[in-house]
Amino acid sequence: MTAVVTGANSGIGLVTAGELARRGAEVVLACRDVGKGERAADRIRGAAPDARLSVRALDLADLGSVRGFAEEIGELDLLVNNAGVMATPYRKTADGFEMQLGTNHLGHFALTGLLLPALLARPRPRVVTVSSGMHRGGRIDFDDLNGERRYRKWGAYSQSKLANLLFAFELQRRAAGTALRSVAAHPGLASTNLQSSESRMTHNRLTDAGWALVARLIAQSADQGALPILYAATEPDLPGGSYVGPGGFVEMRGYPVLVASSAAARDQATARRLWELSEELTGVRYLDDGQAG
Ligand SMILES: NC(=O)c1ccc[n+]([C@@H]2O[C@H](COP(=O)([O-])OP(=O)(O)OC[C@H]3O[C@@H](n4cnc5c(N)ncnc54)[C@H](OP(=O)(O)O)[C@@H]3O)[C@@H](O)[C@H]2O)c1
Repeated sequence: MTAVVTGANSGIGLVTAGELARRGAEVVLACRDVGKGERAADRIRGAAPDARLSVRALDLADLGSVRGFAEEIGELDLLVNNAGVMATPYRKTADGFEMQLGTNHLGHFALTGLLLPALLARPRPRVVTVSSGMHRGGRIDFDDLNGERRYRKWGAYSQSKLANLLFAFELQRRAAGTALRSVAAHPGLASTNLQSSESRMTHNRLTDAGWALVARLIAQSADQGALPILYAATEPDLPGGSYVGPGGFVEMRGYPVLVASSAAARDQATARRLWELSEELTGVRYLDDGQAG
């Protein structure tokens, strides 16, 4: 079994890649910083000396890098669209997209489309897309998708995480009739590098430090946070279109269960519109039967 995990050098992606490798999967660690990826691979090998790992450069904020990465991948059974950035100051990707939408959604949209032939060549291919409970506050702002007129860093994060779910569910609909299963998952609140200085809630250092402390106290470990993603990646009978998250207090912690998504995430008209726009923006076209064009 061959798997690609994006953002595999840190947090949820590192645990996911490590556990898949420990159970015998051949794992490609897709990382924007190859040095960090190699250090992560060494860490995994420290606990699992037989792990079959390779590190490949993938910058989701650069479609040229996404294309270069996809060209190097042969057979593929499992793609875990995990990498993400949160609440970054206003920035653009190499292709001019707002950074959070560009990295979290558009980069993964392009990657999945380009890897679809490799996935569809396998008997039981699966795509897991990592969203967040914060998708609930999200709205796809088709009039200002890239936040050029008004940018709110948390709003942009929620928009990108809603886009992740709309994409995962629409992919499942479009893949009907193929063996592909598209599922989504979220880790609850997990202590990782995501809550870095980039994602300050306010501009007050003391308040930010307070928030960071609260998050550290409430959050579960990255190991625990990865469980819904691993469940979504490996549970044999999980139906396509499922959404998995932690079953404990307000889905912030606990063991994996099927969870509900917002009505906006299930809106098929929005999903279709976002899909078509994503094809136009990335230049990656999927055909109606789920094959990448
Ligand atoms: N932690 C939580 O509480 C939480 C809650 C809900 C959802 N999530 C979701 O879980 C996923 C994993 O996040 P995490 O918590 O594990 O955070 P993390 O520790 O910060 O890991 C994020 C990973 O994404 C990578 N990444 C960022 N930009 C990239 C790009 N342009 N190209 C390729 N890789 C890129 C990072 O690489 P670098 O190390 O080079 O920066 C890192 O490997 C994200 O999708 C996030 O939205 C997390």
